Amino acid sequence: MRIVYLDNAASSWPKPPGVKEAMMEAIDAYAANPGRGGHALAMKASKTVFRARMQVARLFGIKNPNDLFFYLNATQALNQAIKGFVQKGDHVVTSSIEHNSVRRPLEYLRRTKQVEITYVEPREDGLFYAEDFAAAIRPDTRLVVVSHASNLTGLILPIKEIGAAAKERGAVFLVDASQTAGILPIDVEAMNIDMLAFPGHKGLYGPQGTGGLYVRHDLDLEPLIHGGTGSQSEAVDQPSARPDRFESGTVNTVGLAGLLAGVTFVMEKGVAQIHAHEWALTKKAILSLRELAGVEVYGPGVEVERVGVVSFNIAGVDASEVSFILDQQYGIATRAGYHCTPLGHRTAGTEARGAVRASFGIFNTEEDVELLVQAVDEIGAAFRV
Ligand code: ALA
Repeated sequence: MRIVYLDNAASSWPKPPGVKEAMMEAIDAYAANPGRGGHALAMKASKTVFRARMQVARLFGIKNPNDLFFYLNATQALNQAIKGFVQKGDHVVTSSIEHNSVRRPLEYLRRTKQVEITYVEPREDGLFYAEDFAAAIRPDTRLVVVSHASNLTGLILPIKEIGAAAKERGAVFLVDASQTAGILPIDVEAMNIDMLAFPGHKGLYGPQGTGGLYVRHDLDLEPLIHGGTGSQSEAVDQPSARPDRFESGTVNTVGLAGLLAGVTFVMEKGVAQIHAHEWALTKKAILSLRELAGVEVYGPGVEVERVGVVSFNIAGVDASEVSFILDQQYGIATRAGYHCTPLGHRTAGTEARGAVRASFGIFNTEEDVELLVQAVDEIGAAFRV
């Protein structure tokens, strides 16, 4: 059975040509320790890591690639950004659709450091407005942190405008680009972004175990991890030079070789074209699923552009059961449950039951959407009799 992979919001699959080859070449030919030796293989490994850093920096309009640090995923990057910046008693503004990777570090700081959090809600039309974030910012607000797009409904937030509001009021702006890196244009300076956390294994088409954090040059964070950096080894304290200050321990050279190939694919294809493709599939899915008896689709309608995520339920059928049947009987991979965002589900009104999520990537086709819609129709019909 052909697999119809509709779980790209969790991890993109398959990977573009060149990703696997780049990783195999690294393993076979040179994956010594980058930045930890002067021999030829270590230098080659360093070069690959540097090229990956340069390429990601180029994609996000980051002027100095050393302001970009590699981590295993966006979650680690978000933890470094949030816990390394927020201090005791600070106030933080965020949104009511955040993933647990933002919410849990913030709630941890609320418990342990008396941090206060304001969760901004969407308006009646289901959309977020920068004015509401501006109104939530107080004199003691140090951080505004929001997802660029919801991993549940695909809703896109007005990042540039929220960033401008934060800047005007002296707060630092952190963006979780888990659902948008490689999918929507991101330029950290033009969009007023001070810190940007991103995964390598979703829209950048790299392997799992890659991701990173950009931190504006003049913004210092407390490093969460201390240890070997291959530089200033005589110093007792963590070095101040970037990226070493934030990259203790050996980085994932093999993964970064794959990430470099993935990002290169994205840049050659063009972010705008990737989004246009995913949006076309998303619109088709929303419109077709809505036509089915007993199917409810969440998030904004097709008049509001979103990223390639469509969550839905079939009346009277458990979301996990739908996802299980899609997988087992139809070979269609979706994700059911709470998608690590109980906050997002509360905002979407699906807190009690979760939802089934289909998420599209550049390799999905109209036929994939048709197969999904047909399968959902058949499952709904089977449960109605
Ligand atoms: N955050 C990822 C998702 O939405 C894993 O599925």
